[in-house]
Order: sequence, then C-alpha cells, then structure tokens
Amino acid sequence: MTTTRRPIVAGNWKMNTTVAEAVVLAAAVRDAVGAASGVEVVVCPPAVSLFPVQAVLEGGDVALGAQNVHFESGGAHTGEVSVSMVASAGATHVIVGHSERRARFGETDEWVSRKVRAILDARLVPVMCVGETLAEHDAGRTDAVVTAQVRAGLGAVSKDEAHRVVVAYEPVWAIGTGRPAPPEGANETCGTIRSAVAHAFGPGVADAIRIQYGGSVTAANAATLFAQPHIDGALVGGASLVASTFGVIVAAAEARNR
Ligand code: PGA
Repeated sequence: MTTTRRPIVAGNWKMNTTVAEAVVLAAAVRDAVGAASGVEVVVCPPAVSLFPVQAVLEGGDVALGAQNVHFESGGAHTGEVSVSMVASAGATHVIVGHSERRARFGETDEWVSRKVRAILDARLVPVMCVGETLAEHDAGRTDAVVTAQVRAGLGAVSKDEAHRVVVAYEPVWAIGTGRPAPPEGANETCGTIRSAVAHAFGPGVADAIRIQYGGSVTAANAATLFAQPHIDGALVGGASLVASTFGVIVAAAEARNR
C-alpha cells in the first residue's frame, strides 16, 4: 500500500492551562513546530482559551481544535458550546467521543454520531475517538468494540464526506498510563478500523481516511508508532503540554512521510 495520507498530530490539553498559560504554551508550540511540512498539527486547549490561542497561532502552521461541542446549534443547553461557537473562536477541528467523555460524561455512540454530523455540516474536521477498555481488551473484544464504535460514529456520514473525518484509536488502558499499546498491536487495530471504514464506504475512502493512535505517546515512542503503515499520526495528551516534546513528536511524523 502506498501511503499518501498526510499525518495529523493533535495535542489534547484536556482540563489543563489557564488562559494565560494556554497563550504561553501555544506560542511555545508554534515556535517548536516551526514550518510543519507535510504534517497537519493541531492544538486543542480548553474552550475558554480557544479565542486567545487563535490570536497566537494566526498565520502559522498550527491549527486550533476544540475538545468537545454540543450537537445542537444553540438554545437551552446550559454549559455547552456549539460548533459555530468554537468555529467563531478559530477552531477548525473538534475532538469527539474521547473515552473520558464516554466514561465520565455519558457520551453515547449516538451523541458521537450527531456531533460528527454537526461538525461536518459546519465544514470543520471531526477527530473521532474510539477504543476498548482494559476489560474488553483482555476479553479479546477489541476488534468488535472499535468496529461498532466506528460504524455508529460514522452512521450519519455520507461516502463523499467520510474521508474528512479523522479517527483516533485510543485504547482506554493506554491513556495517561505511560503504557502505550505495542506498535504492531496498535497498527493491527488501526487496520481493523480501516476495514470497518472500507466495509461502510468502500476501499477508496478507507485508503484516504486518517487514523491516529493515542495513548501515552511520547517523544521516545512516536517514531516507532508512526512507522506502522496504518498509523497516520497521533492524538497526544500529557506530552502535548511540553512544547519541546510535542515538537519532537511532530518531527517524527514529518520524517515518516519522507
Ligand atoms: P495521553 O492522553 O497521551 O496522556 O495518554 C491521550 C489522550 O487522552 O488523548
């Protein structure tokens, strides 16, 4: 398989950084990443920092993403933000269905699907997370779980637009644990995800869609993960809070496409 997919490396800052800290970190990331040739680079600060961070990133090579949105366009949804709101603050990408949201905030596959729909409608890029828990992993259910999540999450997407979605494979047991999935295993599951996409939308879409790996990605393990044929970048949590480390991860993705 010849891979022409442009890798995408996204930093998920989670519930870290005040506005002032986010602005400082964003400037450091911008400087560390420099001209990111051949790689799409995104940072996802907390919602309150989207707009100030956008001012720091404007005109550069680092794009801005939100960590979550509501699928409705507006109305009585106290505490939520809509896609058009994050877009008006400069976001071009949105993380959807992160396992922390699924596990702690009750985000269902149906919600994920509605959010993906709303994000595509607004011409933004959904970064849709899927992944199995440790119990599911140990029970040998990984393929079934991620296939079901991919099918459900992309359930309202048409063949023509499916390639615009980025899928992030994040085994729950690898997130924030310092215990990444072994590269070959991660690659295999990303291959399973690509097969699920092929089944739903055909081989052309499956070949074009980008699949990230996420879960304890570091400067030390990124290159090995990116050497895997089905892994098209990373969704990075903890390591994205240190600009120099994030810069090394981006450089590893750049090196892969050479
Ligand atoms: P981690 O988080 O890199 O800190 O494991 C990844 C994620 O949750 O997206």
